[in-house]
Amino acid sequence: MSKNCVLLLLLPLFFLVKTAHSDPRATEAALMCTSETALMAERQTFVANFLATMDAVTPQIAVQRYAAVVNGTGNNTVYAFGECMKDLSKPDCDVCFAQCKTHILSCLPFQKATRGARLFYDGCYLRYDDFNFFNQSLSAQDTSVCGDIGFGGNQSIFKDNALRLVRNLSFVAPKNDGFSVGFVGQGNETVYGLAQCWEFVNGSACEDCLADTVVIIGSCPPKAEGRVLNAGCYLRYSTHKFYNNNTSTDAAGNGGRYGLAIILAVTSAVFAVVLSIFSVAFFTRKKILKRRKEKKLLGALLATVNKSQLNFSYEALERATNYFHDSNKLGTMF
Ligand SMILES: *[C@@H]1O[C@H](CO)[C@@H](O)[C@H](O)[C@H]1NC(C)=O
Ligand SMILES: *[C@@H]1O[C@H](CO)[C@@H](O)[C@H](O)[C@H]1NC(C)=O
Ligand SMILES: *[C@@H]1O[C@H](CO)[C@@H](O)[C@H](O)[C@H]1NC(C)=O
Ligand SMILES: *[C@@H]1O[C@H](CO)[C@@H](O)[C@H](O)[C@H]1NC(C)=O
Ligand SMILES: *[C@@H]1O[C@H](CO)[C@@H](O)[C@H](O)[C@H]1NC(C)=O
Ligand SMILES: *[C@@H]1O[C@H](CO)[C@@H](O)[C@H](O)[C@H]1NC(C)=O
Ligand SMILES: *[C@@H]1O[C@H](CO)[C@@H](O)[C@H](O)[C@H]1NC(C)=O
Ligand SMILES: *[C@@H]1O[C@H](CO)[C@@H](O)[C@H](O)[C@H]1NC(C)=O
Ligand SMILES: *[C@@H]1O[C@H](CO)[C@@H](O)[C@H](O)[C@H]1NC(C)=O
Repeated sequence: MSKNCVLLLLLPLFFLVKTAHSDPRATEAALMCTSETALMAERQTFVANFLATMDAVTPQIAVQRYAAVVNGTGNNTVYAFGECMKDLSKPDCDVCFAQCKTHILSCLPFQKATRGARLFYDGCYLRYDDFNFFNQSLSAQDTSVCGDIGFGGNQSIFKDNALRLVRNLSFVAPKNDGFSVGFVGQGNETVYGLAQCWEFVNGSACEDCLADTVVIIGSCPPKAEGRVLNAGCYLRYSTHKFYNNNTSTDAAGNGGRYGLAIILAVTSAVFAVVLSIFSVAFFTRKKILKRRKEKKLLGALLATVNKSQLNFSYEALERATNYFHDSNKLGTMF
């Protein structure tokens, strides 16, 4: 149910984003939630720390296009890292990240206190976890995502081009600030690609990470699209040119500041509303809890949400709780 809610809330956003001329590539490549959840007694602290990291991440992204935040102590420390692909313009980066931040709530950090999640978009990346993963290059959760559609032309040439391309990208990127784009081939057999290591995965860590992607991506051709999503890097190839190769057009920004402001305002509002709905949905489902205990914990969590800088409005919360009043009889709790 909450999933439908999120989709419903995100819908207007996608229309807004579509009207903008540039492309933030805010499309999901993969969402990975860990199965670990915080202990009941520690949830409130963990959620508070999670919210604090999410608050701190956005301003860092706005300034330097990546963010690394740590909040909390001991078992409840939350580490969060986010970064945009280096070919995105700043407005696209902001839009991609705002959507990423909302979308990662699908792992239910708020209700279940999920202790970690990674969300790969084609334009940006966000991860939080309960340990310091900032310079981690490979992990057990690393995966590849191949497209559904196969390449229609000469497949042996295509595969050859794709492999040549990713080898080249993984060779160039570690020496080029952890980033490279390029293409191999001509006509309808051209393959385009992008490779990027995250900010703290540099030097040999970046080389190791991308060397792994070169091996893994080999399973994707003749599919027209392929991605490898590792802890420390991202690699994608495609039959269409998906990357930006010219930053001068980005600055011009067709939608302009006003359009961007609307998009960002709507995204933060959506983030806040989703958060409040999730919090309410959580406590209506957890019928096992004693009512008094429930009320106390909910009060504390809502106070935490209110304290955090999420552009969270009391009206939004009221609307959300009223919405749930009819079906869930939550109203009596307030
Ligand atoms: C964690 O976040 C809270 C709330 O924003 C803040 O007051 C505190 O200083 C942060 N702690 C650390 C270690 O950054
Ligand atoms: C962390 O949690 C474990 C149980 O999950 C507990 O045994 C340990 O004492 C905790 N450590 C701290 C520093 O809170
Ligand atoms: C990663 O960071 C940790 C802690 O900051 C450090 O101890 C470790 O040496 C780093 N590893 C690499 C490969 O840089
Ligand atoms: C690609 O182009 C070649 C000729 O250049 C043509 O024979 C082939 O059918 C084309 N393949 C596709 C999928 O369009
Ligand atoms: C694909 O191209 C190679 C090299 O040009 C050629 O030897 C092969 O016969 C072609 N395969 C098909 C199915 O056209
Ligand atoms: C990678 O591609 C670039 C640009 O096409 C080229 O200059 C370079 O020699 C290639 N490097 C390797 C190792 O293939
Ligand atoms: C970037 O664009 C220019 C002009 O459109 C083109 O010549 C060049 O090959 C492109 N480079 C890459 C890596 O796509
Ligand atoms: C990696 O990046 C960090 C932070 O940007 C920097 O302190 C470190 O010297 C870099 N290491 C290498 C091998 O470039
Ligand atoms: C970037 O765009 C400008 C203006 O549209 C053009 O003059 C320039 O050649 C382009 N550069 C590349 C590398 O595409």
